[in-house]
Amino acid sequence: MIQQAARDFAQNELKPGVIERDEHQKFPAEQVKKLGELGFLGMMVSEKYNGSGLDALSYVLVMEELSKVDASASVVVSVNNSLVCYGLESYGSEFQKEKYLKPLASGEKIGAFCLSEPEAGSDATSQQTTAVDMGDYYLLNGTKNWITNGNTASTYLVIAQTDRALKHKGINAFIVEKGMEGFTVGPKENKMGIRGSDTHSLMFNDVKVPKENRIGENGFGFTFAMKTLEGGRIGIAAQALGIAAGAYELALAYSKERKSFGKAIAEHQAIAFKLADMATSIEAARMLVYKAAWLKDQGQSYTLAGSMAKVYASKVAMDVTVEAVQIHGGYGFVKEYHVERMMRDAKITQIYEGTTEIQKMVISREILR
Ligand code: CAA
Repeated sequence: MIQQAARDFAQNELKPGVIERDEHQKFPAEQVKKLGELGFLGMMVSEKYNGSGLDALSYVLVMEELSKVDASASVVVSVNNSLVCYGLESYGSEFQKEKYLKPLASGEKIGAFCLSEPEAGSDATSQQTTAVDMGDYYLLNGTKNWITNGNTASTYLVIAQTDRALKHKGINAFIVEKGMEGFTVGPKENKMGIRGSDTHSLMFNDVKVPKENRIGENGFGFTFAMKTLEGGRIGIAAQALGIAAGAYELALAYSKERKSFGKAIAEHQAIAFKLADMATSIEAARMLVYKAAWLKDQGQSYTLAGSMAKVYASKVAMDVTVEAVQIHGGYGFVKEYHVERMMRDAKITQIYEGTTEIQKMVISREILR
C-alpha cells in the first residue's frame, strides 16, 4: 500500500512539471508540502513525535518510487528522514525532540544536515567550523558547502570542531535555527543534476547556539555524523535504485514502440541484450538495498550492507541511465524524454553522503577488520 501510494504520488504529483523544475532549478515546494501530509517526511519517526512509525523497508520503497520520477524531490525526503529526523530521534534530548523533531517529522518544517565544508567533504574529521564553549552557549564560526535544503530548511544540524586537540573526539553536532543572528545562506549552486533541489553554502559568523542545542554528550558529534550517514546511505542507495528503475522502465516502453529495420527495436538483439543487462543489475541493486534496510529493521549492523548497497546501486544508476539514453537515440538527448535528466541526476548518487571511494574504504575496513 505504501509503495502504491508513493507510485501514484510520483505519477500524479511529481511527473507534471518535473522537466520545468529541472530546467529552472525550481524547488518542488508544493509537492514537498504534500509529501509531508502523506507522512513521507518523518516515515521512521514514532507517532509520539508526529512521525508515521514505519520501518526502513517502507522508507526505501517510497524512495525508490519517488526517485523513478523526480530525484530532486526524493533527496528532500531522504535528507529529512535519514539525516535529520533519524539523528534527532536516536540521539536528541527530550527537549530537542519536542521542539525540533515534531515539526520536522510532520513536514511542517524541513531540515538540513551540515557536515561538508570547502576543505572537508570525504575527510570529515578535518572540520574547520568551530564551536567555542562560552558557558551558556557555543559560538559558531565557519562555512558549510553543498548543503541540501540549504535555503528551504528551518532547522540545521551543524557539525563543528569544539576542541581541535581531541581530533574527532572534539567534534560536536548542534541544532541551528534559521534566523539566528550571524547565520546567512549563500547563493544557490547551479548544478548538473537534481537541479530542483536546493543546494547552498552556509555561513556562520559568531552565531550563539544555546547549550541545550548540542546533540548528545560533549564530543559525540563525529559518531553522530557517522551513525546518521550510515542510515542516509541506504536512502541514497534507494534513490539510485529508483533512478535506474525509472530510466529502465522508460527505455523498455520506448523500445517496444520504436521501430527500425521493420520491427520494434526491442526485437533487435542489440537492444534486447541491453534491456537484459539493465533488468539484471537493477534487480541485484534492489536486493542489496532491501537487505540493508531489512538489517536496520532487525536491529543488526548495516554499515557494510549500506555501503555495498550505495556503491553498487549508484553505479547501476549511472550505467542504466547512460544505456537508457542510448536506447532512445536522438530522442534520449532531448529533455522531453526524461532520460537525459535521469543520467545527470544519477551522477550525484556516486558523490553525496560519501563518494564511491569512501564507500569502498568503509567496505574494505569492514571486511578486513
Ligand atoms: N560509526 C561509529 N563510529 C565510527 C564510524 C561509524 N560508522 N566510522 C568511524 N567511526 C569512528 C571510529 O571508530 C573512530 O573512533 P575511535 O578512534 O574512537 O575508535 C573515529 O570515528 C574516526 O574513524 P576513522 O579513523 O575511521 O576516520 P577516518 O578519518 O579515517 O575516516 C570516514 C572515516 C569513513 C572516511 C568518514 O570520514 C566518512 O564517512 N567520510 C565521508 C563523509 C560523508 O559521507 N560526507 C558526505 C556529506 S553529507 C551529505 O552529502 C548530505 C547531503 O546533503 C545529501
